[in-house]
Amino acid sequence: MTYKALKDQIALVTGGGSGIGRAFTEALATAGVTVVIASRREDVLSHTALDLNLKLGAERVFPYAFDIRERREIDALVGHVIESHGDLDILVNNSGLAVPETVDQISEDGWDKVMDTNLRGMMQLVRATLPQMIANEFGDIVNISSQAGKHGYADVPSYCASKFGLLGFAEALRDHVRKAGANIRVFNFCPGLVDVENAAPEAAPRPGFIHVANLARTLMYALSLERNVVLEDISLYAS
Ligand SMILES: NC(=O)c1ccc[n+]([C@@H]2O[C@H](COP(=O)([O-])OP(=O)(O)OC[C@H]3O[C@@H](n4cnc5c(N)ncnc54)[C@H](OP(=O)(O)O)[C@@H]3O)[C@@H](O)[C@H]2O)c1
Repeated sequence: MTYKALKDQIALVTGGGSGIGRAFTEALATAGVTVVIASRREDVLSHTALDLNLKLGAERVFPYAFDIRERREIDALVGHVIESHGDLDILVNNSGLAVPETVDQISEDGWDKVMDTNLRGMMQLVRATLPQMIANEFGDIVNISSQAGKHGYADVPSYCASKFGLLGFAEALRDHVRKAGANIRVFNFCPGLVDVENAAPEAAPRPGFIHVANLARTLMYALSLERNVVLEDISLYAS
């Protein structure tokens, strides 16, 4: 089985400029991984890249503006990562949002926005990335589902449907890469409430929330396991 040290790996973290994605990016870059962070808000991405690169004293985080709902922009992003950095080893599907509309209020626009961002975009990123990972016989795909991917909540039915769907797609993907014998692992995070507003290392999370650093630590642990070991669905809740 192919093995590659983290310092030689290239990651793409969608939504890496803020919240959970930013914490993942910091942990990966601290371990020596080159990380491209991608989402719509160029100013947020540039600010995060600057901040983390200054902290690390090295240029390891690179911003790229794209909209996950646009197929052409997804293909361009994946092409850019491979051309600029030579590879794509870790794909973190983290971009996501919720539109709080109860079942009797769901609008077509709200439904499509959630599905296109959380599910369709993730599928297209996987599809664009997979040929490179299969050719390399190496890769890790990390999907951020939610506690709402395992339980239904009346205030966010479209979000629940997208996060349940993400887990179903990931399971089929896992079967696909296993059959291809491709040395590609697929991990899913299913967190409960994560306090992305109090992200400083010393900050106390709000009651009922967990500190975002726990997700970053878990990501690095999951990646550190031997190549034939997959920590499948990782559920993290406040006790
Ligand atoms: N925080 C929690 O309690 C919690 C719990 C369970 C699961 N999650 C999941 O964790 C992931 C990260 O959420 P977060 O809490 O860290 O909130 P967040 O900071 O709002 O992160 C969401 C990210 O998605 C990006 N995004 C949204 N629409 C996009 C689009 N059209 N194209 C590209 N990127 C887009 C946003 O960047 P731009 O606005 O720049 O595009 C943002 O960086 C989400 O998938 C969320 O569902 C969060």
